[in-house]
Amino acid sequence: MFELGMAYKNFLMCIIIFVFCQRLGHTKKGQRIAYNCWLYTEEMILECFLARLDITLLQLKVPPNTTNISCMHSQLDNANLFQSHILQSAASIEFVNLAYNELTELPEEFFKSNRNLTEINLRNNKLATVPRNLFQFLKELRLIDLSNNFLTSLSGDTFAMNPKLQIVELWKNQLQFVSEELFRNMKEMEKISLSRNHLEFLPSNVFMDLSNLQDLYLFKNKLKCLPSTIFYGAPKLSVIHLGYNNLQILPEDLFAKNMQVTNVKLWANKLTCIPKILFENHKDLESVNFLLRNWGIPINLRQRFSNNQAYNTIYDLQRLLQMYGNDTCIQHSCEWDKSSSTLDCSYRNMSSVEKLRNFCENIRHLKLNGNRLRDSTEIASLLEMQQEVRILELQNNHFSGKLNERMLEKAEYLSSIDLSANQITEISEKFFKYCPFLQVRFFKSYAHTVYS
Ligand SMILES: *[C@@H]1O[C@H](CO)[C@@H](O)[C@H](O)[C@H]1NC(C)=O
Ligand SMILES: *[C@@H]1O[C@H](CO)[C@@H](O)[C@H](O)[C@H]1NC(C)=O
Ligand SMILES: *[C@@H]1O[C@H](CO)[C@@H](O)[C@H](O)[C@H]1NC(C)=O
Ligand SMILES: *[C@@H]1O[C@H](CO)[C@@H](O)[C@H](O)[C@H]1NC(C)=O
Ligand SMILES: *[C@@H]1O[C@H](CO)[C@@H](O)[C@H](O)[C@H]1NC(C)=O
Repeated sequence: MFELGMAYKNFLMCIIIFVFCQRLGHTKKGQRIAYNCWLYTEEMILECFLARLDITLLQLKVPPNTTNISCMHSQLDNANLFQSHILQSAASIEFVNLAYNELTELPEEFFKSNRNLTEINLRNNKLATVPRNLFQFLKELRLIDLSNNFLTSLSGDTFAMNPKLQIVELWKNQLQFVSEELFRNMKEMEKISLSRNHLEFLPSNVFMDLSNLQDLYLFKNKLKCLPSTIFYGAPKLSVIHLGYNNLQILPEDLFAKNMQVTNVKLWANKLTCIPKILFENHKDLESVNFLLRNWGIPINLRQRFSNNQAYNTIYDLQRLLQMYGNDTCIQHSCEWDKSSSTLDCSYRNMSSVEKLRNFCENIRHLKLNGNRLRDSTEIASLLEMQQEVRILELQNNHFSGKLNERMLEKAEYLSSIDLSANQITEISEKFFKYCPFLQVRFFKSYAHTVYS
């Protein structure tokens, strides 16, 4: 008890000293307008730090010429009141920093009076969502920081009206999915961070037309694979952080359009294959990290390569890639039609779909006819990776006897399945219960259609 008490006192002392120094640091003349809130009229700044805006918000008054509002760690929880009482009167603010507060939601009109905003910091709040129109009038916006909130999704047009965005911080949220529209047409974008989210897949064109993007942080997600063209639209990429994901293979042309790449982190993935030519023409490369957990690649490659060290330089990386790298990591020979999202692997003499596990586009129509497939459990795990499949063609394969009753468990959107011309003798009642949209089923050697 005593120890705890002491620790608590020390903690309080630290905070007091910290706040005191904060105040001392201010040479500008301020007027205290509420508990731990100051107004600096000459500099046109409102600043609260460790204030109690849950209680004292109405004591604040800001002149219309205010340009900066910074209210951090101040227990702000009433967004509506902050809007009507502060933001509306300080119409010309350019910078607003509301980090480390208790905001759980923001009204759509929150920034409607503040059309000259260039930087918005909302990190470390409790936002589970932001209205899709929240930023719609902010033509001058250059920075948005929404990191360390509880965002589970963002509408694809959230930033559609902010063509001047340069920095978007979205790290440490709970995003499972990023719309391919989210960063569309942002010619000035320099840095995007999506680290520490729950992303498993990225749409292949999510970084399209980001001609100025230099830093991309995707650290600590659950990425299973990367479409080979994912970085094609961002030719100036320099720093790419992909550490701590679940990547198994890298397409050999992954960085083919990113000739200015300097720093690539791929540590703590599950790599089993690195293409020889991954960095073939990358003259600016300074550092590449393949350390930790990448058990499937030779130890010589499972290293950090950097020009700032005596051995394992980028020159060594190139040499070792020639020795231990793979010619290709993409092993299937199927045809991909992007416009219809169809993957055609028919008549390829395949006895397993193992090689499709790293196929990184969302397949809607999967053709596997005329192969030698026999393992329905393996199909189940492929469908777990490919949950968008609508049409599944498996006719004329070697399935026999009873099918795994959970083969379609993850194929939630399946509307049509063709298993005709196999030797299936039994299908469990539960087999179809996972597929509410299933309308067409072909089973025997003749077509037997059931409309349900
Ligand atoms: C901003 O407005 C306040 C009050 O309206 C005024 O006292 C102050 O001088 C103004 N600041 C500047 C820099 O114009
Ligand atoms: C306002 O805030 C921005 C961003 O925090 C800062 O760069 C700028 O110097 C501030 N302006 C003034 C007058 O303090
Ligand atoms: C925004 O900035 C422009 C140009 O500096 C200025 O004319 C306009 O009055 C500002 N708007 C507001 C609401 O302060
Ligand atoms: C990649 O090459 C290594 C040897 O350098 C080999 O053991 C491994 O099986 C290859 N992986 C693939 C997917 O071809
Ligand atoms: C199909 O694959 C099997 C085993 O890999 C092989 O024995 C057979 O010759 C192949 N058939 C054709 C037509 O390529």
